[in-house]
Amino acid sequence: MKYYLTTPIYYVNAAPHIGHTYTTIAADVIRRFKRMQGYEAVLTTGTDEHGQKVERAARAAGKTPQEFTDLISAEFRKQWQTLGLGIDRFMRTSDPRHHAVVRMLFERCLKNGYIYKGAYTGPYCVYDELYVGDAQAGDPCPDCGRPMETVTEENLFFRLSAFQERLLELYEQQPGFIQPEVRRNEVISFVKQGLSDLSISRTTIKWGIPVPGEDRHVFYVWFDALTTYMSAVAGEDRWPADLHLIGKEILRFHAIYWPAFLMAAGLPLPRQVFAHGWLLFEQDKMSKSRGNIVRAEPIRRVMGIDGLRYFLLREIVFGQDGGFSYDALVGRYNSDLANGLGNLVSRTLKMIQDYRAGVAPSSAGTGESEIASLARETVEAVIAAFENFEFSRGLEALWALLSAVDKLIVERAPWVLVKKPDGESRAQLDATLYTAAEVLRIAALLLAPILPESAARIWQQLGMKHSLDSAQLEECRWGQLAPGQMIGALGPVFPRLEAAKAIAEMRALEVEETARQAALLGGRPAAPQPQPAEKISIEDFAKVEMRVGVVLTAARVKGADKLLHMTVDLGEREPRSIVAGIAEAYAPGQLVGRKVVIAANLQPRKVRGVLSDGMVVAASPEGGKPVLVGFLEDVPVGARLT
Ligand code: MSP
Repeated sequence: MKYYLTTPIYYVNAAPHIGHTYTTIAADVIRRFKRMQGYEAVLTTGTDEHGQKVERAARAAGKTPQEFTDLISAEFRKQWQTLGLGIDRFMRTSDPRHHAVVRMLFERCLKNGYIYKGAYTGPYCVYDELYVGDAQAGDPCPDCGRPMETVTEENLFFRLSAFQERLLELYEQQPGFIQPEVRRNEVISFVKQGLSDLSISRTTIKWGIPVPGEDRHVFYVWFDALTTYMSAVAGEDRWPADLHLIGKEILRFHAIYWPAFLMAAGLPLPRQVFAHGWLLFEQDKMSKSRGNIVRAEPIRRVMGIDGLRYFLLREIVFGQDGGFSYDALVGRYNSDLANGLGNLVSRTLKMIQDYRAGVAPSSAGTGESEIASLARETVEAVIAAFENFEFSRGLEALWALLSAVDKLIVERAPWVLVKKPDGESRAQLDATLYTAAEVLRIAALLLAPILPESAARIWQQLGMKHSLDSAQLEECRWGQLAPGQMIGALGPVFPRLEAAKAIAEMRALEVEETARQAALLGGRPAAPQPQPAEKISIEDFAKVEMRVGVVLTAARVKGADKLLHMTVDLGEREPRSIVAGIAEAYAPGQLVGRKVVIAANLQPRKVRGVLSDGMVVAASPEGGKPVLVGFLEDVPVGARLT
């Protein structure tokens, strides 16, 4: 039985941070879980190395693209090793073996009549490498909010429009193809609106895979990147993938473009795309461009990798967005791991050591106990939850079993039983200690995918002879802890952390790690460099009418994370409808009543179907969020800026 899963291949214009780690940890959990179910599970990750952003980042770092990508790709690989993640294949898009597979995919699509040549002129976001249909140059990119540039290119187009029906059929016939459900519905309604053909080559970029027979063209990064999932296992009997695990922002590429490319090429489709949510930091998506990232390494050094793994999978419902904070991280660790599981392990094993000379007692009668039947139900519930990637639900069920054992220990009071010499008390003491130890054995098995290092420590302390690495989930059946077995050497599994001290240490290490990564990247972030502006006459400047307005209403634009729709009073008869790419910097509520500056005589246009009659003036610091222009003194509505 084979199981093949992938993470996204990460861009090399940023060094690894906890967002990348989140997906890769989840993939590692699934890989370990599948292996414990008897699958030969293989996990692919890698680095996405082509495109203009990388070209620019390399230039800013004073390196060639190849030198630059070698460095950052190695950084990703090293990070996954340090964190103990089970990566089986690591593919780089600059690897010639990958190029061959991209060419093969293209040639099959070409032969089947799905590629044609056409010209494209229009706005393009260099940062996101995204063409935007209904926009103009200078408009904010609907994804990142940065101003777009106009490009004209002769491109090769992929006939995406031919796949609308077939894609809808796929989603219909295989409801599990896109998960979770809410994401599936989003994709279905998007595809139902109709699909435009997709440009899959670029002539403006050099750093990419050359298109066969078209000297000046390189492949569009997504045509190139998605194919990594196949090239990583080329020559093995492993395709199609069982699972592509991704963040929700790249769902369209995976759920629409990728199956369409494969259909066009006549190749088998992956079985599932699962899009998880974002890790947020103070309500905002963590990302390099927002400058609010945290790295995993400082956390690992202070609390161990299992503390982070547990937090990410227990605190956040997999599939939904979830907040990260050091307080919550350390809080969870202390409450659930140090005080919860860790404490249960140490008290149970200490009692076996003290009251039974370190020998696992008789299991007589325990199989029929309430805890044993709760354990059976829990095993089923946890496995079912993990099968559906509902990690937090599975962990919750397991912790309910651990609490029941805690309660049993308090009720039975082994420290009292041990003082009674009668046979019944002895039997009760044995049953209690066996039950607690057996639950811990089962817990170690169920937790092995989530907490590999600590579960192995619990396993050893229980005196288990075979390694947890080779254990299978069927060993969760009650009663496999052998009476008479000597327990191992005891030691703390989750030492309690002093919160303030641990957080201060993590923060200090985070500063060091940030500096180390910045040095690696050559200091400058990979954002587009501002072009020197052309000089204009005062008359030209006077053509721009900038006026002071007050925001009357503000609301997010549906389906565009960066856009806000506002109505702004400029002292005219009617307020203006204005769309601006500032939703990540300002909540709607912060804007109402605020004075803003509007470029008021621009041609009105539609942004995402909403009228924008004017442009809000803001500073756009490189790599940061937009900052609205404002005044220190009060200025009347309608006043003109000259
Ligand atoms: N190179 C593309 C993917 C190509 S796949 C064929 C890309 N790379 S990326 O470096 O930007 O990585 C994006 C992925 O990193 C997300 O899809 C998600 O898996 C992970 N995350 C990055 N930041 C994240 C959060 N703040 N929260 C959760 N996951 C995050 O897109």
